[in-house]
Amino acid sequence: MSDCRILLCLVVLVGVCSAWVDGLGVNWGTMASHPLPPKIVVRMLKANGISRVKIFDADAATMNALAGSGIEVMVAIPNNMLGYMIDLDTARQWVKHNVTRYNFQGGVKIKYVAVGNEPFLTTYNGSFLNITLPALKNVQAALDRAGVGDSIKATVPLNADVYNSPTSNPVPSAGRFRADISELMTQIVSFLNYSGAPFTVNIYPFISLYENPNFPVDYAFFDGTSSPVVDSNGIQYDNVFDANFDTLVSALTAVELGSLPIIVGEVGWPTDGDVNAKTAYAQRFYNGLLRKLSANKGTPLRPNQYVEVYMFSLIDEDAKSIAPGNFERHWGIFKYDGQPKFALDSGQGQEVLPVAASNVEYLPKTWCVFAAGGAGDVSKLGDNINYACSRSDCTALGYGSSCNGLDANGNASFAFNMYFQVQNQQAPSCNFQGLAVETTQDPSTPECNFTIQIVSNGVAASAVAPSDAMLVIFLWFFTAIVEVF
Ligand SMILES: *[C@@H]1O[C@H](CO)[C@@H](O)[C@H](O)[C@H]1NC(C)=O
Ligand SMILES: *[C@@H]1O[C@H](CO)[C@@H](O)[C@H](O)[C@H]1NC(C)=O
Ligand SMILES: *[C@@H]1O[C@H](CO)[C@@H](O)[C@H](O)[C@H]1NC(C)=O
Ligand SMILES: *[C@@H]1O[C@H](CO)[C@@H](O)[C@H](O)[C@H]1NC(C)=O
Ligand SMILES: *[C@@H]1O[C@H](CO)[C@@H](O)[C@H](O)[C@H]1NC(C)=O
Ligand SMILES: *[C@@H]1O[C@H](CO)[C@@H](O)[C@H](O)[C@H]1NC(C)=O
Repeated sequence: MSDCRILLCLVVLVGVCSAWVDGLGVNWGTMASHPLPPKIVVRMLKANGISRVKIFDADAATMNALAGSGIEVMVAIPNNMLGYMIDLDTARQWVKHNVTRYNFQGGVKIKYVAVGNEPFLTTYNGSFLNITLPALKNVQAALDRAGVGDSIKATVPLNADVYNSPTSNPVPSAGRFRADISELMTQIVSFLNYSGAPFTVNIYPFISLYENPNFPVDYAFFDGTSSPVVDSNGIQYDNVFDANFDTLVSALTAVELGSLPIIVGEVGWPTDGDVNAKTAYAQRFYNGLLRKLSANKGTPLRPNQYVEVYMFSLIDEDAKSIAPGNFERHWGIFKYDGQPKFALDSGQGQEVLPVAASNVEYLPKTWCVFAAGGAGDVSKLGDNINYACSRSDCTALGYGSSCNGLDANGNASFAFNMYFQVQNQQAPSCNFQGLAVETTQDPSTPECNFTIQIVSNGVAASAVAPSDAMLVIFLWFFTAIVEVF
């Protein structure tokens, strides 16, 4: 892509921007209490030469910010809307409102529509098994009828657990679609082949390590391992990303679609919330991955190929569900405020710090901390910490996380501050029954950052428990209704 080359020249000449691997994509999620304004995010994407973005909806503010940027976009239909798409007219309405509406000169370069997100995860108990394929077909039909089906393809981002190798022969060449859904997967991939869409898979070496304490750490990265997997065909795998990708290639080959294009919808490494979620590991993982991608190395079963990849993810999201683990809120290459976390090798053999978001507005430099020796009843401390943490992000306090080394008072301060920031530093949110006090002295330690939130007019993500502010508005609304009658 010539755009990226030009950007690279600029880096060398004036150092104003960096460009990563050609055509590199990134996931842009917005499950944050204070999402960065979309326009700021799009500028940051451009400044870093990121040319593809995958989003989890088709939110109008996001789409309007992307308009005219030239960035290729994968929009998405969330799982909870899949059921509606089994009606073709509804699918056509969705496409009209969320795709063709942006299809004009200077509009949004939509390339894919993601139909659901990992709908066959076993944790969903099969809820989406019956509706995903009909939804996929209808969305593609709707795109075709709207006259954009040649350039915009419907695909289904799938978790890597839709395929596996038998435990008796755990090698990539033995890869097959998961037994309970093999018939369905065969129909889905035939449809993707028929419509000219790629298979989209999310691959997480970090999760392999997280779920299996005996997993060889080196095998999760890209710089060699003392315990490679030797396949029966003689191929030696020294990283789990390649092994996982080739397990999928084998599963496709087994249904005679061995050359169906594959794109990696999500891949990345979190930086907090677990013993292995460390900045140093994330940096090692991304740099290995990006060097491999920029050299178009491919995998043993698909050598010397360009692979379209979307990193997960762009920015930390403090309102994501932590059901899978505390690390869920720390996947960003950038912190919540658009500050880069670590330097990345653009594939030129040189590590460059990504360009930070510009024009980000912060709340005042005021923190909320535990008032040691104050008037509050210390026996109420536990309850107040729980209250704060149930309404803000305390995942950095957990075992193996950046703030786990704080003492008991530090824990209380951290929790109180997180809540205070989520509440936009509104005065009543730093009280906690007299146990808390505001301060302008940064309580951060070298390991543990006490954040100052940004100014955001984003609507708090639905995953956040109702805030007091919302309750107040609700009560006000309720009172108003009563008064009317
Ligand atoms: C997409 O289109 C439908 C109308 O069919 C609308 O209800 C929905 O809110 C739109 N936006 C998103 C993000 O799905
Ligand atoms: C799946 O089933 C389990 C156990 O029956 C239940 O706890 C869980 O809530 C279910 N999940 C969904 C998404 O239905
Ligand atoms: C899916 O459809 C099959 C057959 O029509 C039915 O037996 C099954 O209960 C359905 N499952 C769900 C989750 O709706
Ligand atoms: C895949 O698509 C090609 C081109 O449309 C077609 O010729 C081929 O038969 C398809 N393969 C399968 C297994 O459906
Ligand atoms: C601080 O909180 C974390 C998480 O709740 C806990 O694991 C740790 O033991 C606490 N530390 C102290 C000193 O209370
Ligand atoms: C904490 O994070 C903020 C926001 O990214 C940053 O500006 C600040 O320097 C950090 N503070 C410390 C002590 O690391």
